[in-house]
Amino acid sequence: MKHILLLFLTTLISFSAAAKEGMWLPLLIEQYNIGEMQANGFKLSAEDIYSVNQASMKDGVVKFGGGCSGVVVSDAGLVFTNHHCGFKYIQRHSTVEHDYLTDGFWAMNRKEELPNPGLTVTFLKEMRDVTNDVLKGVTDNMTISQRNNIIQINSDTLINRAIKGNHYKADVNAFFEGNQYFLFIYEVYTDVRLVGAPPSSVGGFGGNTDNWMWPRHGGDFSVFRIYADASNNPKDYSDDNVPYKPAHSFPVSLKGVHENDFTMVFGYPGTTEEYKTSYHLKMLHDMLYPRLIEIRDRKLEVINYHMNLDQGRRIKYADKEASLSNSWKRWRGEINGLDRFDVISKKEAFEKDFQNWADNKEAYKNILDQYKKLYGRYTQLNTDANVSRELFEKNSMECFSKADAIQKIVQRAQMAKSRASNDEFAEFYKDYDITVDRDLTKRLLTYLFAYSNQNIVPETLKSVYKKKKGDIEKVTDYLYRHSLIDDTLWIAAYNKGNDKVIKSLEKDPFLISYKEYNSIYNDNLMPQVRKIKASIDSLDRIYMKAIMAYEPDKIFFPDANSTMRVSYGKVIGYDPKDGVHYKYYTTSEGILQKDDPEIYDYNVPDKLRQLLNKADFGQYGENGSLHIDFVATNHTTGGNSGSPVFNANGELIGLNFDRAWDGVMSDLYYNPKICRNITVDIRYILFIIDKFAAAGYLLDEMKIIR
Ligand code: ARG
Ligand code: GLU
Repeated sequence: MKHILLLFLTTLISFSAAAKEGMWLPLLIEQYNIGEMQANGFKLSAEDIYSVNQASMKDGVVKFGGGCSGVVVSDAGLVFTNHHCGFKYIQRHSTVEHDYLTDGFWAMNRKEELPNPGLTVTFLKEMRDVTNDVLKGVTDNMTISQRNNIIQINSDTLINRAIKGNHYKADVNAFFEGNQYFLFIYEVYTDVRLVGAPPSSVGGFGGNTDNWMWPRHGGDFSVFRIYADASNNPKDYSDDNVPYKPAHSFPVSLKGVHENDFTMVFGYPGTTEEYKTSYHLKMLHDMLYPRLIEIRDRKLEVINYHMNLDQGRRIKYADKEASLSNSWKRWRGEINGLDRFDVISKKEAFEKDFQNWADNKEAYKNILDQYKKLYGRYTQLNTDANVSRELFEKNSMECFSKADAIQKIVQRAQMAKSRASNDEFAEFYKDYDITVDRDLTKRLLTYLFAYSNQNIVPETLKSVYKKKKGDIEKVTDYLYRHSLIDDTLWIAAYNKGNDKVIKSLEKDPFLISYKEYNSIYNDNLMPQVRKIKASIDSLDRIYMKAIMAYEPDKIFFPDANSTMRVSYGKVIGYDPKDGVHYKYYTTSEGILQKDDPEIYDYNVPDKLRQLLNKADFGQYGENGSLHIDFVATNHTTGGNSGSPVFNANGELIGLNFDRAWDGVMSDLYYNPKICRNITVDIRYILFIIDKFAAAGYLLDEMKIIR
């Protein structure tokens, strides 16, 4: 009764509200959300979204690979996901003669579809609340590790029971910081073939310049097909496999998207931290993010300088640059958002009120004090650990980790009583340029030797630094002069059977420093970090329970944890700053405006330029223009890439691929005024498949709503 009343109230309240934050569990939509969703225009039922008795929407939404989402769009297992989600596989099939990243790839019939060993597509069969089973035997006065052990054993029992006698996979995941547990049963398909992908200049149009930005003009999609055995069960790639027959595939709507339309995003969001305290946010905002940003500023400056100088270096470092700049840009966006909306003060005000309420509650009254103590130590330690890893790993000075990798190759060969092959070394130097790395080393060693905690500096580096009186130029020269990394001659010597080079490898200063770094990180920093983190996790569980008791009428959504979620909201533009309004959609006009063959990120393919200039958009156009991307208020995060975006009828209207920079603090704090997910309009996707790629035959197997 309480829930029904609540639901009624929330429905009333939010009917007029612009949007609603939250990534909801499909199983609980019936209980918490369906009223509000329908009040905002949704035409289907909770049973249509998630059901174990009949086919439902969840049967057509997939986890694509390890970290993306996707959607089934035909009865023959056709799947849409993002271009950046399929990127790795498209790249793997590319050679100099067939450069599918540059030119795109389109199978013109099923025989031409390309297998991708290792790529999986995962369907959720069922989810169940197993909180009582997981917590059976757990008591309040246990130590953290006793508690975790019991939870582990109980979870394993549940998983084993769920997968006994079938081919399913199962997981137990914690929700609300370990106050609730769900069992998920999955079916994993392993024969997933590449059907088509536009060129990167369409799929990744705007590159890093436009990444995280609105207005946007990306055609971020790629097409795959799931294959199964004759009984429709998962089977590794085989010639006899046949297209998978899904329980549910989605119709595709050409009707378009309009301001204030209801939208819904379905997929596998990775991580959010919506319920953390002000102490946690201060750690991110004041310490961790600024240090990581400083380091990446330096990496990106060096790498971009060389990428602009030299085409070979551009190719070698493009991927590293993309991955470095993706988080770098998001962290900066998060800091800006936290500042602009005064999020830390808001959390502090909330905590003050909470404390007043908790003061006379024995179980809760000391929580915030304990957080304060824990973060007092955790903030520095965790930052030091992250800084140290950011300097020695993560597309950084590679001389250190490469020296280590060389030794591992040689050792592995020695153990097998053979010699490492040239191929192994070649693979290893493939995306590496010594000039770039030397510059990175100079910049980052300068940072390391100026860092506030010199305990993270490996001894060997300290002594070279002392010997060279702090002259980084000389330090770098010394290291490279005494290292084998710069010297491919040693590979030749090694190949000739010269064992002396193996001996000198052991004295390589990069190798020795790398081992010292590893021992500082793994044996010193991380054990301390983990210990405090375990206490924080345990406190998080109690705090979560406490704030749920403090606000008994609020319906909480669990933080993202890579399990299937539904977000809903509406299509609407936003005001990024005073005097500026952004529309909710972009058109092909914008592609032509950005078009510039001189700028790598804006190099529109000739054929697309011609098509757009001709403006023959046919059934994909709207009032003579072609819509490209749109924004909405759906609460999404990393992992939602490739997520289907649906209209009120559960028809596909686009693929989610990004968020707008001004609101990326939504992982920590969602604000409907500014937080927007970015979707590529399905009409642009079909236009590219049909008119640009001439693969319109694929549309024949889709159900298209006109
Ligand atoms: N920002 C998007 C997402 O996290 C897209 C990332 C890939 N694109 C890129 N230009 N790096 O993660
Ligand atoms: N591009 C992100 C991904 O790869 C989605 C954007 C976001 O973080 O919301 O999942």
